[in-house]
Amino acid sequence: QAPIRIALLGAGTVGSQTARLLVEQHDELVHRIGRDYKIVGIATLDPVSDPWIDQSLLTRDTAELCTRADIVIELIGGIEPARTFVLKAIESGASVVTANKALLAKHGPEIYKVAQEHGVDIFFEAAVGGAIPIVRPLRESFAGDKINSMLGIVNGTTNYILDEMTTKGLDFDIALREAQEKGYAEADPTGDIEGYDAANKAAIMATLAFHTQVGIDDVSVEGITKITAADIASAAAEHKVIKLLAVVDHTDAGVSARVYPALIDENHPLASVHGSFNAVFIKAKEADDIMLYGRGAGGAPTASAVVGDVVMAARNIVSGTTATGIQTYNTLPLAPADAS
Ligand code: HSE
Repeated sequence: QAPIRIALLGAGTVGSQTARLLVEQHDELVHRIGRDYKIVGIATLDPVSDPWIDQSLLTRDTAELCTRADIVIELIGGIEPARTFVLKAIESGASVVTANKALLAKHGPEIYKVAQEHGVDIFFEAAVGGAIPIVRPLRESFAGDKINSMLGIVNGTTNYILDEMTTKGLDFDIALREAQEKGYAEADPTGDIEGYDAANKAAIMATLAFHTQVGIDDVSVEGITKITAADIASAAAEHKVIKLLAVVDHTDAGVSARVYPALIDENHPLASVHGSFNAVFIKAKEADDIMLYGRGAGGAPTASAVVGDVVMAARNIVSGTTATGIQTYNTLPLAPADAS
């Protein structure tokens, strides 16, 4: 049988590591999938020199590449042109794997619907919490339960900055530069430090958890740019730490989603989430409390989640099935954020 054709859009921090895993783990992954695969093209506008990237696969014609693949991995980021390419891939019959939280927080329900109409998969484990399995548990493990709330640290850059300021007394700017050098920050880190990256993830979490449409514009957002060393010191004096939290909940009043720097007791489990690590608490009606923890940013950890999705999509192609679509059947009112 013909190998499954994989197209990679974007060869930045995560794209490059995704290409490495697909090349280095090829034989192992073929066993897991049950069919051979090959990378048919890598769309990038910038030169790439990684040794595992075959230069003959590079193309600038992203739209054309989308039409000759069975699985398209979108790691361009941002809304456009990523949205156009994702829809083009789906309409060409390809399953899509993406890490694009901004795109899904804005146009997720439209994309999920089009994917379902075309009988292809859309997987996006890497869009929330990097390597941590969050999306798949929300889609599958909790399918028989009711989630009341989720509370998490979902931006590695800001957690790294706040942690370095707290534990080493580092300046905000120096800690941010380190986060950029380590590959945690977005190309433009404004979205990280102003809370919009976490807000995108909050929108996706709320949509999946509550089966309703929560978009980026529904999330109240406050970032960490106003946090000073003095704030951190006065929190410490009260045995507390400052963490940027994303909180989504579903009460009788409706759903709410917000991102804000919160004071947390130093004994709280979230207080011990250091560096670029992320963690998410899920409060479910029957399962009660569950906490997921792991690397929320960085090339290789995020690529691990991307390639896991590629294997899932490839297995479904082999077996002629697709995952159940994302259902947003609830029309819940937006509740005013609880200020507590
Ligand atoms: N810039 C993001 C972060 C990358 O710092 O968490 C992962 O989405």
